[in-house]
Amino acid sequence: MVALRLWTIALVSLISLAPVVHPQPVMVGDVEVDPRDFAPHLDTRTRIASCVACHGEHGGGDMDFGPDVRFGTPALRGLRHGYLRESLVAYRSGRRAHAEMGAIASMLDDEAIDFMARTFSAYPPAPLRSPDALAALAREDARFRRGQAIAQQGLPLRGVPACMSCHGALGEGNAALGPRLAGQNGLYVERQILAYAQKTRQTPRAAMMQPAVTGLSDDEVEAVAHYYEQLVRPAGMAAAPEVGRTGEGSAPRP
Ligand code: HEC
Ligand code: HEC
Repeated sequence: MVALRLWTIALVSLISLAPVVHPQPVMVGDVEVDPRDFAPHLDTRTRIASCVACHGEHGGGDMDFGPDVRFGTPALRGLRHGYLRESLVAYRSGRRAHAEMGAIASMLDDEAIDFMARTFSAYPPAPLRSPDALAALAREDARFRRGQAIAQQGLPLRGVPACMSCHGALGEGNAALGPRLAGQNGLYVERQILAYAQKTRQTPRAAMMQPAVTGLSDDEVEAVAHYYEQLVRPAGMAAAPEVGRTGEGSAPRP
């Protein structure tokens, strides 16, 4: 009897040592996420099915669903392994406050986070527009031109540094400094600038972004976000297959 009770206690403490995983499927936004689909023995396609339901078949975020889709879901393609891992850990710990990603990250243990970071960092970045196309945009689109000036020169009088000094000449990112911004979702970029300003994003390197966010007006944030989104070829050119946001029929890139 005593042995049985000890055994029960041992079992209960083993269970409580396991990562906190919700055993039942939950609705996250309009996507049903089944935590059992993240189990390490499953194939890649199954493990990332709920991710691509929102982040797109090509990992391009909203852009994979067409030019009019504006949920603010970021592109993951082209981001580095270390940055992706750091971001998922930050959602899990609440350093990045976000209802949907917080709920999802809480279902991922360290192995699953590393797996996700490895898988999505292998997706190739969206192709940049040609230099001619970029020059034409700068001529014809005043908002793009304004964003480009901020990205390349900053606003010295207001202490805003040039974004490119950390994020790369054409937003390609820099492993030691800022993540890739070329092709990033404009609405998402606007929200991140706000998150840094309001300190709801308190990632270890968030302080590096403070001088960049404090001096920008709303219009300037919108312009620079537009500039980075427009650096890559428009959505649709990747010929993304038909995918519903429910994740049905998701077939990720190998
Ligand atoms: C219901 C839709 C949804 C699902 C499902 C989802 N995401 Fe997200 N994800 C988002 C949104 C929206 C954001 C932007 C959150 C913010 O504003 O901070 C985001 C942000 C992220 C970021 C931050 C990117 C960056 O540039 O910092 C990463 C990494 C990420 N998601 C990975 C994943 C992975 C991996 C999965 C699957 C395990 C997943 N997401 C599932 C909607 C979703
Ligand atoms: C001193 C270097 C530095 C400068 C200058 C800088 N950034 Fe950043 N930026 C960073 C770092 C580092 C991060 C990642 C911080 C983190 O982990 O949250 C970042 C993150 C970001 C993000 C979030 C990316 C994502 O995928 O979630 C956006 C958006 C951004 N920067 C936009 C800008 C813009 C726009 C400018 C210019 C007005 C700018 N940055 C200037 C270093 C910099």
